[in-house]
Amino acid sequence: MLETREVSLIYRNGDGVTYAVKKANVRVNQGEFLGLVGPSGSGKSSLLYLMSGLKSASEGDVAFEGNSYQSLQNGKLIELRRKRYGFIFQQHFLINYLTVFENVMVGALEQNSVSRQRAKELIAELGLEKQSRRLPWQLSIGQRQRVAIARALINEPAIVFADEPTAALDHATGHQVVDLLAHYRGHGSIVFVTHDPEMLTQADRVIRMRDGEIIAEEKRNGNR
Ligand SMILES: Nc1ncnc2c1ncn2[C@@H]1O[C@H](COP(=O)(O)OP(=O)(O)OP(=O)(O)O)[C@@H](O)[C@H]1O
Ligand SMILES: [Mg+2]
Repeated sequence: MLETREVSLIYRNGDGVTYAVKKANVRVNQGEFLGLVGPSGSGKSSLLYLMSGLKSASEGDVAFEGNSYQSLQNGKLIELRRKRYGFIFQQHFLINYLTVFENVMVGALEQNSVSRQRAKELIAELGLEKQSRRLPWQLSIGQRQRVAIARALINEPAIVFADEPTAALDHATGHQVVDLLAHYRGHGSIVFVTHDPEMLTQADRVIRMRDGEIIAEEKRNGNR
């Protein structure tokens, strides 16, 4: 469904070059929960940015449903990201003067009754019904992250890209967030970046990175 081909991200600073990602080949299968793990600085975020089109490759290419990012005009890549991808980051990036419901609707492609209904359902599924009219500062950190999840899922994305969404949470709350995301598998794929292997017990497949390179890939059968 999504595939990277020998993709690299190179930073040039002063005299030297850093390969944040070096010739990585990754495939994301339909509906799977793919974990991306590795120590700090190993290139996890960089690989996620390349896969999701937030950064363009220095070398190699990425393709979604057979369409290579290089072949897409810039506007088309933005459209692909908006329509087919969902994003969750370590920081929730909620808008502080909008309610929970309004923050979820910010992600909706169309501000119509179908979207409003889906926002309501997601808010209920994520256990935020009572908080629906609150502002972000009136929520716990874990609740805020759940709002960010609802916002990311509002358009039923083909792939959800999550970069350390549990890093700011305690263990129990972190596990809740992973469970909620894992629940989405089947509807769409999840690419989940973390430095904490414990967060990946539910993953279908785990890719391990070090120094910008993929050093291992592990299949976890029986997680579905
Ligand atoms: N803007 C930049 N300029 C130069 N080098 C960078 C830049 N951003 C990242 N790097 C380097 O690229 C490498 C990979 O960084 P990246 O952020 O992808 O790692 P990470 O695995 O996500 O780390 P963390 O777990 O700390 O988030 C690191 O060596 C980092 O120093
Ligand atoms: Mg990172």
